[in-house]
Amino acid sequence: MEKFESKFRDSMTSKVALLNRITHYIVNRKGKQMRPMFVFLTAKLLNNGEVNERTYRGASVIELIHTATLVHDDVVDESNKRRGFFSINALWKNKIAVLVGDYLLSKGLLLSIDNGDFDLLKIISVAVREMSEGELLQIEKARRLDITEEVYYEIIRQKTATLIAACCSLGACSVKPDSTDVETFRKFGELCGMAFQIKDDLFDYGGQKIGKPTGIDIKEQKMTLPLIYALNHCAKKEKSWAINSIKNHNKDKKRVKQVIAFVKEKGGLDYAVGQMLQYRDEALELLSTYPESDYKAALELMVNYVVDRKK
Ligand code: IPE
Ligand code: IPE
Ligand code: MG
Ligand code: MG
Repeated sequence: MEKFESKFRDSMTSKVALLNRITHYIVNRKGKQMRPMFVFLTAKLLNNGEVNERTYRGASVIELIHTATLVHDDVVDESNKRRGFFSINALWKNKIAVLVGDYLLSKGLLLSIDNGDFDLLKIISVAVREMSEGELLQIEKARRLDITEEVYYEIIRQKTATLIAACCSLGACSVKPDSTDVETFRKFGELCGMAFQIKDDLFDYGGQKIGKPTGIDIKEQKMTLPLIYALNHCAKKEKSWAINSIKNHNKDKKRVKQVIAFVKEKGGLDYAVGQMLQYRDEALELLSTYPESDYKAALELMVNYVVDRKK
């Protein structure tokens, strides 16, 4: 990870001073770096602990794209905090945040193109397309407030799970380009990603300090699994009250608190935890078909971290 970090830092540099100031700000407030870890551990598991330059480049591309999507996501969600500090839009305003996100995305894609990693580029580009589609599907559904559990899974599969799927298939592809492991690990990453986003959505209902705002999903009319479950398991009257609250009173703090209490009372959180653990178990099952190794053990730890993490 140390070697990765220095390569990642280098991959962002620009001749424009303002951009360099902002990218410095970004790399000095790094996140959990789970995505590069998934890339490296998958490659190591499949290749007796060896990774190559393709693996490093792939990990950098993924983290660049992840960073770009977070910068854009905070504009879209009007969120002023990220990783315990001010978000880029909070400090430099939306105009600059949009352009910085585009810059990071293009730097990522060019890193693959300049090195002829076209197989990796394909995996990454599919993920980028799906992430944009997922975010837009989420907005479309938020406007109509008619989201079902199936649609929720489709949204989180697209906006979050595909990138983690890309991490694992790219890690595999960097060392074993033509093997069936590429698809197996894509699936493995997708399952981890589903659990990961359900956990993220659960954080929004909790009071813990996680380095970004909580309790903003209802304000943004974002319907996530706990709420969807509660709406489908309550009396008609309660449902109309909840929908009306989200539609017309979503900036009213007291009302939002009541909706959160309603979701808890209907067992929405417990249900979401159960679904999350099911995805975790499916991921662990896929992994169990591979022979024991330090890398497999580390990946198992990663899977458990996804659901146990505190931020
Ligand atoms: C946040 O991802 C975005 C989601 C998909 C929920 P992470 O929680 O991995 O973000 P960092 O990189 O650790 O800040
Ligand atoms: C996840 O969306 C970010 C992307 C996949 C682009 P959210 O809006 O749910 O993530 P956080 O909670 O702000 O990190
Ligand atoms: Mg968002
Ligand atoms: Mg957000």
